[in-house]
Amino acid sequence: MSTLKKRFMLAQVARNRQKRLNALLKAPLLPSKIRNNLGFYLVACDFRLTWRCNSQCIFCDIWKVYRDPDSYLRDHGEGLNVSKDEMTTEEIKKVLDDLERMKTKNITFSGGEPTLRSDLCELISYAHHKGMSTIINTNGIAITEAYADRLVSSGLTVANFSIDGPTAELHDSFRGKGVFEKAVRGIKAIRAMSEKHGRYVWINVNAVINKKNYMSLTQFIERKKEWGVDSFSLGPVNVSENEASVYKDTEEFRLEVEDIRKIKEIFSGATLKRFQEAGLLTRLPFGDSEEELQQNARNCYTHPWQYCFIPWIRTVVQPNGDVLPCCYSPGEYVVGNLKAHSIAEIWDGQAYRMFRKKCKPISHPICRWCFLFKHTNERLTPFLKLINYGAR
Ligand SMILES: C[S@@+](CC[C@H](N)C(=O)[O-])C[C@H]1O[C@@H](n2cnc3c(N)ncnc32)[C@H](O)[C@@H]1O
Ligand code: SF4
Ligand code: SF4
Repeated sequence: MSTLKKRFMLAQVARNRQKRLNALLKAPLLPSKIRNNLGFYLVACDFRLTWRCNSQCIFCDIWKVYRDPDSYLRDHGEGLNVSKDEMTTEEIKKVLDDLERMKTKNITFSGGEPTLRSDLCELISYAHHKGMSTIINTNGIAITEAYADRLVSSGLTVANFSIDGPTAELHDSFRGKGVFEKAVRGIKAIRAMSEKHGRYVWINVNAVINKKNYMSLTQFIERKKEWGVDSFSLGPVNVSENEASVYKDTEEFRLEVEDIRKIKEIFSGATLKRFQEAGLLTRLPFGDSEEELQQNARNCYTHPWQYCFIPWIRTVVQPNGDVLPCCYSPGEYVVGNLKAHSIAEIWDGQAYRMFRKKCKPISHPICRWCFLFKHTNERLTPFLKLINYGAR
């Protein structure tokens, strides 16, 4: 392991230790905050900076917001609230100032494609100078060496690249010709600039598992060294008939029970060990029982008895400043707008509290499709029961 990487990992361990300590210090307040549906500690804020996109992925409809709005509205309805209005640099900086006061430590910039915002590096640098970790989710198309240089010197902490297959043929079949080459160029450029500046940037590859790629996913392991990737995460394709989803209803990619069984078989035994040893594994979001697998094949990942703690610790900001309690919530769940109110006001406002109330247990219809925090929630549910939470 390189010295740089070692230093990065040690710093990460120290940061996590500090975060746990902070959380512990506040722990006595937790039961009352949960009972009263008040936010606990806003650990992470995800900014969707823009709905603009420079790609046309086959299982994502976001690019249509600008390039084919009629078909977008036809498929998803008005409910998604994908306003083209975007917060200005100064407005976002003001929110970052407020987040600093709330001790928020993790800022993600996503979209659409965040690299299309000309102020991305400025925003990363602004958050970095406040001691926050900065993360980008990107398709990598725009990340040339010069751009990577700017990203790294701005203080980027983690670069999440979306790559859905280990070969150009496969990845480009989902995302368009030439995209694979550009994304890999982007990864290598971030690694090279990270070394040049002596700042370790963690590189994660995120792949959307679907019917057409799961047989090839293990080949990613051969790319780890070649590309300079640190981790690899897998999320199932969202093909739900859920109108509120920003994703496309693409039946042909749907994972059926048999596919899920095969994926679980592939990522087991010696292969699983290889992935673990390479530090390349995050847990698969699929269940274990037959009932759960059937449910997963219908694109459902949560249980009616489950609780979700995410709206107590994270938030999502849409390009126009609308605040959502989590990534999956559509427009109708907007809990406030940052042009009208501060994040602190919204965080403990009535709308947020009402949303949280329905997470104990989860009773929002949208939550059925959520796989994002499956494992976190499963670990937290017994804890919440233990501290005797209670809705007002
Ligand atoms: C909406 S994109 C925004 C960031 C950036 N444009 C990108 O592609 O990484 C965020 C993530 O959603 C994933 N995604 C797109 N379509 C999806 C789908 N139908 N189901 C699940 N994830 C999807 C992308 O692969 C990406 O990792
Ligand atoms: S997945 Fe990302 S790159 Fe692809 S269309 Fe959606 S927002 Fe754009
Ligand atoms: S379970 Fe529901 S509230 Fe929790 S993160 Fe998922 S969509 Fe959001």
